[in-house]
Amino acid sequence: MSPAATPKFKNPRAKYNFQGRSCSITGVGSYVPAKVLTNTDLEKMVDTSDEWITTRTGIKERRLAAQNEFTSDLAAQAAGRALQQAGLTAQQLDLIVVATITPDMPFPSTACLVQDKLGAHRAAAFDVQAACSGFIYGLEIAQQFIMSRTYDTVLVIGAEKLSSIVDWEDRNTCVLFGDGAGAAVLQNRPNAHGLLTAVMGADGQKADLLFMPGGGSRCPASAESVASRLHFLRMEGKETFKNAVQAMQTAAEEALRRCEIDISRIKCIIPHQANRRIIDAVVERLGARPEQLFVNLHRYGNTSAASVAIALDEAVASGRIHRGDLILLVVFGAGLTWGAAVIEW
Ligand code: ACO
Repeated sequence: MSPAATPKFKNPRAKYNFQGRSCSITGVGSYVPAKVLTNTDLEKMVDTSDEWITTRTGIKERRLAAQNEFTSDLAAQAAGRALQQAGLTAQQLDLIVVATITPDMPFPSTACLVQDKLGAHRAAAFDVQAACSGFIYGLEIAQQFIMSRTYDTVLVIGAEKLSSIVDWEDRNTCVLFGDGAGAAVLQNRPNAHGLLTAVMGADGQKADLLFMPGGGSRCPASAESVASRLHFLRMEGKETFKNAVQAMQTAAEEALRRCEIDISRIKCIIPHQANRRIIDAVVERLGARPEQLFVNLHRYGNTSAASVAIALDEAVASGRIHRGDLILLVVFGAGLTWGAAVIEW
């Protein structure tokens, strides 16, 4: 085989003989609420400073949804844009997967509410809960349905109204999070590669590093649980930080190993946008160059399941990603959960 004819990477899916079938992202979209909350605004709410937040996290501002704007609204906005880019109508969708830890309500699923808002009457719909890793979990679920020929067209959304579960009196956490949504349409695109591999992992032994104690079957809402502030998220920052760096490095290396590609071949690395110091540590451990990175956390903070979905949309819109480029997504979240995906755009 001449060097020109050498495949540029190995597609791990190929060994299952999918007969030319692929799972490609054919449209992306995102939506963030209009209201901006800056670090200077936060200085008036808790004992913090722009200087502390910027140096410890890299975040400068985040978006807050309006009181009458819910996760399903953010999700539907992002989804509409992704469908438009894919050139599809909502009626063509076979399945809607919404990744979120802030559903409109415990049930029905936010995906069902989004299905109704879009008018996607043919589509099955369900939520996936993997915290900040939810979007990659959703991509892998979509891939499984498409490659198995169960469905042709799947919408995956990461959407959060984290402002509804943030304790605005706790400076350790309230400076970190924001609201928003990102979406991707996945389709069988013949003679293409698309999503090459997705690594997913979890460690329930570390569930107590990042969790919300109240509101579930263990601690249903009561006057007491509200007074004890149990319906807000809680986090062990330092331990979460260490685990995030390790898990993201391991997941990214496993995804690259499966495709037999070196990190230098990746055009754009899109990490979970939680903390600039976590991102820099992961990139250094992977041996990547800073110019391979896409970062937007200074504008939105940590939007959990929406984080890499919004960043992916912005990377495409800003011309950082073109058809044929290799992309690496890498995430980490409560659970603990983690994941990485390699995509040929
Ligand atoms: N402003 C000023 N001071 C603060 C603030 C604040 N907003 N928050 C904490 N501090 C103080 C602390 O009280 C502490 O003071 P002390 O030394 O007097 O006790 C001091 O700053 C240092 O606190 P540390 O916890 O040591 O700060 P650290 O350098 O670890 O940074 C941070 C904290 C930013 C939270 C970091 O640990 C982190 O980013 N962790 C990972 C968080 C993350 O990514 N979470 C999301 C996971 S994804 C998901 O599923 C949602």
